[in-house]
Amino acid sequence: MPREAGSGPGGGPRTPRRAGRVQFLCTECGDSFGQWLGRCPSCNAWGSLKEHRVADALDGPRARRGTTGTVGRTGRAAVVRLGEIPVDSAPRIASGIGEFDRILGGGLVGGSVVLLGGDPGIGKSTLLLQVGGVLTTAGIRTLYVSGEESAGQVRLRSERLHGTAAGLHFLPETDLEAVAAAVEQLDPQVLFLDSIQTAYLSSVASAPGSLAQVRESALAVLNLAKSRGMAAILVGHVTKDGMLAGPKTLEHMVDVVLSMEGERYQHYRVLRCVKNRFGSVHEIGVFEMADDGLREVPNPSKLFLGESTSGAVGSVVVAGLEGTRALLMEVQALVHETRYGMPQRVSTGYDARRLAILLAVLAKRGGVETSQHDVFVSVAGGLRVEEPGVDLGILLAVASSRLDRPPHPKMLVLGEVGLGGEVRRVSHPEWRLSEAARLGFTRALLPAANARDLGASREGIALSGVQAVAEALGEGLQRREGTGS
Ligand code: TYD
Ligand code: MG
Repeated sequence: MPREAGSGPGGGPRTPRRAGRVQFLCTECGDSFGQWLGRCPSCNAWGSLKEHRVADALDGPRARRGTTGTVGRTGRAAVVRLGEIPVDSAPRIASGIGEFDRILGGGLVGGSVVLLGGDPGIGKSTLLLQVGGVLTTAGIRTLYVSGEESAGQVRLRSERLHGTAAGLHFLPETDLEAVAAAVEQLDPQVLFLDSIQTAYLSSVASAPGSLAQVRESALAVLNLAKSRGMAAILVGHVTKDGMLAGPKTLEHMVDVVLSMEGERYQHYRVLRCVKNRFGSVHEIGVFEMADDGLREVPNPSKLFLGESTSGAVGSVVVAGLEGTRALLMEVQALVHETRYGMPQRVSTGYDARRLAILLAVLAKRGGVETSQHDVFVSVAGGLRVEEPGVDLGILLAVASSRLDRPPHPKMLVLGEVGLGGEVRRVSHPEWRLSEAARLGFTRALLPAANARDLGASREGIALSGVQAVAEALGEGLQRREGTGS
């Protein structure tokens, strides 16, 4: 007995550990460790562990969630057969802003949580204010909580939107307990929290914006939304490498992840759906930032093709698929003899490594050499394309510039390019073609496999199917006058 007294709470070396345990949380996967490591053993990310102090004696947020957290509040669930569960046809809350509802798959779902990410100043708060205004006008109780801006600032912005959001309920608050109290009182159907990084729970010991706070705050909102059947939209900031700040687990926690993108110097904004538990992903909505807020762009292809130089050397029109929408884009290439040093390959809006592969295929299978040339490729309008269906168009644009032979005017190019120089079939060619038909295109170069399914023409567009890269060059590019090449 007397021996144990020496190792009691006052007993020297143990005291600092009890004052608040230090843990290291991975910003990528959210796993926690007792010591700092250069590489996360769970997800193998380098330099992702961040120090985090745990206030209580429990073993970090994980254990806390299970014991004192709010997750278990509704009691234990019973096991049931799937067929016996009533289908709660949760009516969607349509905002009335068509592009916004479309990417959500028809509107907000009651009890769901949406994470809206994007660079600072891209227009997230503006979008929320507009959506909130329309919802309020439609008689849907909406509460906008802002921890970023004062009431005066938001009021000013609402003036820019011609006061359309005047009836919206607003609360400048960062303390989530106060927010919960306001929700209790107002009983809104929709809650906006701008932003999750400024929100805090006083029961969590770390600063707002820290990993633990962001995670626990999001969890609190999640519980609030689920228990009341209220839809919530959380605004999240994006770090400089384009990731949503906070643990990756935030994206796993919410039902829908939207990301707002756009070039700083261009006025249109693309709202992209990255995850959707209630609808399809990869849907996009296009908006234009005007003096009086965001405006929907119902026909984005027209916008991106606005100044298209159809039929010019090095310019080819491709159709990328974004969700269920085909988007026509102009690809421009400039190939110029290298005068000095290493040949340059610069690609804007298209993966540079993929371009390198296309150049190799073009040389080996198409016989068009660019090893002594600088190659510049750019997707007009500052868009970013990732879909492989645009490969052939990019390859043709490069070949056109290199050979100085213009592509046929009013021609759409579709096709994925394989390493063997084969032109592979694309998904949903009919969607892409009908978008092209609407914009007055008259011919299309597409994979032979797709052409076989579609026939010789479609909606007034003459189709020519090609099997290989070499054939595509012959079919797609006009002959140079005089040379007969
Ligand atoms: P904001 O919604 O504050 O961005 P975020 O919440 O994503 O940080 O967007 C502000 C930007 O949008 C700002 O640069 C000004 C511009 N803007 C307009 O061009 N027109 C408008 O009507 C409004 C309200 C903002
Ligand atoms: Mg904002």
